[in-house]
Amino acid sequence: GNPKITVIGSINMDLVTVADEMPAQGETIRGESFKTLPGGKGANQAVAAARLGAEVHMIGKVGNDPFGYTLQENLESQGVDTQSVIVEAGISSGLANIIVCDNDNRIIIIAGANNRVDTEYIDRFTKQIQASDYVLIQFEIPQSTIEYILELCSSHSVPVIINPAPAMKLGDKYWEKAAYITPNDHEAEALFGFDGSSLPKFHDKLIITNGAKGAIFYQNGKPVTVPAHKVEVADTTGAGDTFNGALAVALAEGRTVDEAIAFANKAASLSIQKLGAQSGMPERKEVKDY
Ligand code: RIB
Ligand code: NA
Repeated sequence: GNPKITVIGSINMDLVTVADEMPAQGETIRGESFKTLPGGKGANQAVAAARLGAEVHMIGKVGNDPFGYTLQENLESQGVDTQSVIVEAGISSGLANIIVCDNDNRIIIIAGANNRVDTEYIDRFTKQIQASDYVLIQFEIPQSTIEYILELCSSHSVPVIINPAPAMKLGDKYWEKAAYITPNDHEAEALFGFDGSSLPKFHDKLIITNGAKGAIFYQNGKPVTVPAHKVEVADTTGAGDTFNGALAVALAEGRTVDEAIAFANKAASLSIQKLGAQSGMPERKEVKDY
């Protein structure tokens, strides 16, 4: 059957401003366009995996505001199981202020309801978590919850992919309990001063995404680059999320890590050709034909 992926993480409304250039400090500039688009690293990864044919169960919270309902509906319409996505009273939905400019984006997130994804909430869904082929988490929910999920999954031998975004220092415990940890190049630098020359301690679990350059994993202690694909970039927001969702699907299907990375690279390349984190995420067939 289809792989069962559980994504536990953030659900945000992205407030996306497109401009020709980044405003300098103290400067006001005229922009090109503004859109509200569904996002959040958790939701994005869930949608990416669902489009690729996985059975995706999302665990998260939205706020008691119009965005919350829109975000819930969006996940549902994408074929994600949203039984574990609830509206939290008395708090706003997660928000991301995004400036898209050339091949670059800058993001400020406001956690809102994502901060209420606590350990008691996770306890309600232990059955679904245990029944997953892969669990995907990111760092837009509380750290205590992430550590709890890691314990839970490792005690039931459910493999977890940690996408450490936004970056946060990782103790050895994270490395011991995760199946893979997938920073981008900036996050890798923040996590362990990665410059490509030194070998990180838990290198066998490390996958570093590096935008247009591709992704790096380690084989027999040596870095191997799986190249990316040259495309016209509309918006790189969510490229990492597409990569992670696709990676989880391919690994759950039993592909080797280099095959899974090649598949994820393709999916991510396709996704950046459209504005918005989730717009452009490919269906299985598009990746196959690519
Ligand atoms: O990874 C991209 C995502 O980061 C955006 O959708 C935004 O919501 C932030 O969480
Ligand atoms: Na996109």
